[in-house]
Amino acid sequence: MVAFAEWLQSSSLSILVQSNTWLTPLLQSIHILMIGVVFIAVVMLALRVFGRVSADTPFNEVWARFAPWMWRGLIPMAVTGIILVIGEPVREFTALSFWLKMGLLVVAVISVLFFARSMRDATLADPGMSEFSSGAKLAAAATVVLWLVIIFLGRAIAYDVEVWGALT
Ligand code: HEM
Repeated sequence: MVAFAEWLQSSSLSILVQSNTWLTPLLQSIHILMIGVVFIAVVMLALRVFGRVSADTPFNEVWARFAPWMWRGLIPMAVTGIILVIGEPVREFTALSFWLKMGLLVVAVISVLFFARSMRDATLADPGMSEFSSGAKLAAAATVVLWLVIIFLGRAIAYDVEVWGALT
């Protein structure tokens, strides 16, 4: 992996990203802005399950309103993230935080899709449903915590040795 990262870092594409010194801060700024979009969408969906927001609105409608923002945020995050990786592949590929984040990101996206489907099925079975089960609330809370961990890991990439070095 390190050999591949070193090859990529010496590639003309990576040198293009590295040599335009304004590019990385611009990409990180867009990346950070999109965290806000994605995280707020996730929190609003979780708050609906807790009945704290739009409690009288069926889950499907709340999903239809906020889920598109999650995907609209994740796409630019993936694009900016991939270019950041191309710009500093050795830094990213040798960071435990980066791999943990990517792994949890896959889990987070799949769990949100499963969660939404189970909520939609539950609401279809009982359209008047406004109160969700404690299991659904636990799943909603776990989803929010999962995204918080992803955010922490994204930031921890810059301090990877300090963070994990301290833990081992
Ligand atoms: C979709 C794929 C994603 C990729 C490929 C990706 C990749 C990256 C990379 C390469 C960095 C720069 C790390 C560094 O060198 O310091 C970064 C930073 C970061 N990422 Fe991601 N990321 C993705 C999605 C996300 C998501 C979904 C979140 C959270 C919701 C997130 C949160 C962060 C945070 C908090 C930072 C630190 C930003 C900073 O302070 O500069 N990333 N990401």
